[in-house]
Amino acid sequence: MILKFPEKFLWGSATSAYQVEGENKFSDWEINPPKNSKGPAGNACDHYNRFEQDFDLLKILNQNAYRFSIEWARVEPKEGKFNKAEIEHYRKVLESLKRRGIKTMVTLHHFTLPQWLSEKGGFSNKESIQYFTRYAAKMFGEYKDLVDFWTTINEPMVFSWHGVNNLIKAHKKVYRLFTAFGDGNISVGIIKNDTYFEPYKNLLDKLSVRFLNWWQNEYFLNKIKNQTDFIGLNFYMRLRIRFPFKVKNENKKVSDMGWELYPEGIYYLLKDLQKYNKPIYITENGLADAQDKNRKWYIGEILKSVHNAIQEGVDIRGYFYWSLMDNFEWTDGYEPRFGLIEVDYKTLERKPRPSAYFYSETCKNNQLIIED
Ligand code: FCB
Repeated sequence: MILKFPEKFLWGSATSAYQVEGENKFSDWEINPPKNSKGPAGNACDHYNRFEQDFDLLKILNQNAYRFSIEWARVEPKEGKFNKAEIEHYRKVLESLKRRGIKTMVTLHHFTLPQWLSEKGGFSNKESIQYFTRYAAKMFGEYKDLVDFWTTINEPMVFSWHGVNNLIKAHKKVYRLFTAFGDGNISVGIIKNDTYFEPYKNLLDKLSVRFLNWWQNEYFLNKIKNQTDFIGLNFYMRLRIRFPFKVKNENKKVSDMGWELYPEGIYYLLKDLQKYNKPIYITENGLADAQDKNRKWYIGEILKSVHNAIQEGVDIRGYFYWSLMDNFEWTDGYEPRFGLIEVDYKTLERKPRPSAYFYSETCKNNQLIIED
């Protein structure tokens, strides 16, 4: 069976600065990583120095889009003082992608902060709104001709209540600023991680699910829906909920991190997002799978569900696999292997896994071939 995707569909993969670059010495995760984490990341994949080589691989693997983030702490290591050399670095990164004909999606904030801002309380301090806007405005001025899609914040619901409300304000401010100064071609979105919640059995379970769905999946979007050009969806899991918040998953198949592999979940979330009437990009989706035993199957099943949703009228314009390469996975450190490309952390050698070639064929032909 052959499933064709819409013309101009984006096929890519995603990374974030702190997880791949290495030596982010002014970032809060490097200086003062959370106690329960395996941070700091240290040298990571040395993507900072090897981006050309990594983009060659991206091209060889037929991807036409790349999502990455700018490390705020690099470009503004001291409050209000922007670093020219680091600004030039990201210009080179963007130019290098453009030279290869790869569409660029840039995230301004992907979990890490400059240490100086972290010391002021990060996003729970309302001054962060001004700081974030100043940084975003600077990036916009520098790179607006090189960026196809801007995204403000990665997974805002990971933050505390105070943080979330400040992030809503920060997002709106940056959206208004970019659209006011853009020439009409500017596209600014948000990256939302949605979970597919399912009730375990009874009415109370259903009520729990309704609450979780409202809080985790809808709250932020409802607040900013008039200030976003598109929705970026990160999808990783289904959670079957037993009242009040117990997880009762079937776990027939799990990733190396024990996350249930339930690809159909993305279909329901995409259908639900249709109500916002915005283009949707799947900005992250993937699994930790060191042996590469489920990745091909999982990507195939996910894409079937995406295709289904498109057939039913959902406006989906692209898919970014998480991640282009193995990288530093926050609390779990270097053990989980999410990459299409395997990284040997001793030699830093890169090697595409078999599933990377399967994905590559899909990207190249803009269609998914399902073997019967
Ligand atoms: C997402 C994060 C990303 C990565 C994946 C596995 O929640 O946005 O940085 O860690 O999970």
